[in-house]
Amino acid sequence: MNAPKRYTITSALPYTNGPIHIGHLAGVYVPADIYSRYLRITGNDVAFICGSDEHGAAIPMRAKKEGVSPRVIIDKYHAIIKKSFEDFGITFDNYSRTSAPIHHETASEFFKKLYEDGKFIEETSEQLYDAEADQFLADRFVTGTCPKCGNEEAYGDQCENCGSSLNATDLINPKSTISGAKPTLKQTKHWFLPLDQYEDFLREWVLVGHKKDWKTNVYGQIKSWVDDGLRPRAVTRDLDWGIPVPVEGAEGKVLYVWFDAPIGYISSTKEWADREGKDWEPYWKDEDTKLVHFIGKDNIVFHCIIFPSMLKAEGSYILPENVPANEFLNLEGNKLSTSKNWAVWLHEYLEDFPDKQDVLRYALTANAPETKDNDFTWKDFQDRNNNELVGNFGNFINRIVVLTNKYYDGVVPTPNEFSELDLQTLTELRAYPAVISSSIERYRFREGSQELLNVSRLGNKYLADEEPWKLIKTDPERVKTIMYVGLQVAAALATLSEPFLPFTSQKLKNILAATSSDIKTNWNEIATKEVLLPAGHTIEKAELLFSKIEDADIQKQLDKLEATKKANEAENKTIEPQKDTATFEDFTKMDLRVGTIVEAEKMSKAKKLLVLKVDTGLNVRTIVSGIAEHFKPEDLIGKKVTVLVNLAPRKLRGVESEGMILMTETPDGKLVFLNPDEDGVTPGAVIS
Ligand code: MF3
Ligand code: ZN
Repeated sequence: MNAPKRYTITSALPYTNGPIHIGHLAGVYVPADIYSRYLRITGNDVAFICGSDEHGAAIPMRAKKEGVSPRVIIDKYHAIIKKSFEDFGITFDNYSRTSAPIHHETASEFFKKLYEDGKFIEETSEQLYDAEADQFLADRFVTGTCPKCGNEEAYGDQCENCGSSLNATDLINPKSTISGAKPTLKQTKHWFLPLDQYEDFLREWVLVGHKKDWKTNVYGQIKSWVDDGLRPRAVTRDLDWGIPVPVEGAEGKVLYVWFDAPIGYISSTKEWADREGKDWEPYWKDEDTKLVHFIGKDNIVFHCIIFPSMLKAEGSYILPENVPANEFLNLEGNKLSTSKNWAVWLHEYLEDFPDKQDVLRYALTANAPETKDNDFTWKDFQDRNNNELVGNFGNFINRIVVLTNKYYDGVVPTPNEFSELDLQTLTELRAYPAVISSSIERYRFREGSQELLNVSRLGNKYLADEEPWKLIKTDPERVKTIMYVGLQVAAALATLSEPFLPFTSQKLKNILAATSSDIKTNWNEIATKEVLLPAGHTIEKAELLFSKIEDADIQKQLDKLEATKKANEAENKTIEPQKDTATFEDFTKMDLRVGTIVEAEKMSKAKKLLVLKVDTGLNVRTIVSGIAEHFKPEDLIGKKVTVLVNLAPRKLRGVESEGMILMTETPDGKLVFLNPDEDGVTPGAVIS
């Protein structure tokens, strides 16, 4: 084991413009909590820091929509989010908020220091402006096409599709999200952090220094930005919600939310230290401290380029040791989305599964989006609960505890001589702390969760091989040894499960009466101590750790999502789910050709149908197509189209149709021929 160290562990400050869902938990907070809990129980000095991100354009926008003040919004969601974290056992040492006075002070001072040290460029330039709303447009107040990837819904500071960080003036076809108007340009003064001056530093620090130990997805993103060349970035905004820019001549301006929010990690640490009577500075300034940021991939640029450059500019801070950013979690095949209500909200989950916090923690960890985007399905959730938690972990504990109570009134028996298998089982058990430690220390939490299940698997296999329930009649002395060995496995599980399944770990410790001082519940001691649960110790009665989740419970969740989908469909917002797999053979059966429409006329008495003659190269054939409401026949002549030529012929209103013309539909219901470059066609539109 490593020597104890000081750790500052942060997880992204959630925006208080809505509640949090499983995507947040899976990507950021559960891994950060596993890591923090693990480091604490292995004897390290840990500050696990978070808080609410209450500034930025999203808050006043939401407030406007709900017809209340921004204060009302942040108070409401701060409370909901904070409670969700507590409910799921996320053990922050401090959960602060960026509206707190200590944060305003800390962020202002930070800005002033950089200002006084001449680290900013002060520049008056033309910025996007909405004349109708009398407001400058940055960040979420403006959308447009991303110059990097073509996403039409990129924001003024970032494209959520490709992760690029943008300046509002980079957007192609910008549009005000307040009025929908096309912005004009207007002059305004701002302070810029010249990121281009930090390129060499970033290159040296990350691209050389952390090539080996950072996740490839994180490293790759940073490399591509730095290689692309960095530009100065405005760190102030014309906005009335946020931290006032603390210098003269900056009236009506606030700090950019992404300037103040990461400083929130520092102010939250200060708040904690004040409360605990500690000194906050070593947690941010001592080179021996390991600073680790847990975030989602959309935050990489801010935590790996902008914030480190700020810290570097300030001069007295340490830099992150690692930024183990996760990819995204999808839900039943579709992207999680707050605006489309496509989510499992944590507070709603707990209404339906009030005692199953650990089940969700486990399902999200076992399927965590560590190296690629992953899909959460309710079926997988059910299977993991029923097969792994109930069938494996819970089953082992239940058997060993029930039998100990039945045979020995709950008193751990004194073992006789150990057999080969006993010794082998105990040796294997002692190896697990190091195995699981290694997974956690490399940020491979899903691997760690599977190794944990291997411990109870070891116990189950041991009991199944030894069958104490049969031997009890013929060889009760041998059974004492078996039960003793099995109880050591149970004791190890109580400790090893703590980072992953904290509620279960506590329950199991209660069952094993692990509060008494003769029991070893220290992670490192599992590997070194012969005895974890000594003979003569009395355990409590059995209590189920997990319970089966029925099909009906799952169906209820699926129905909920189906209702959401219907509601969205009504608003024409949703993407159709992918169809069943087509084999290569299925695909090659379809004979697609380019054809030219040579004749077109309306079918009499059929509002929707056109009768077309199409030259397919093979022959000129008749195709009946349901597009009469979308095209005038005369406009179609000479048009090139994609034709499925070997579709079985069928009669439509008495006319035989020999093939099908491929079309797609734009979100507003307009039919267009299959040419994905056609205006208005969006990704995911079904071709038919
Ligand atoms: N609120 C941001 C988000 O949800 C994260 C802020 S992280 C911090 O994407 F570093 F700025 F605090
Ligand atoms: Zn993009």
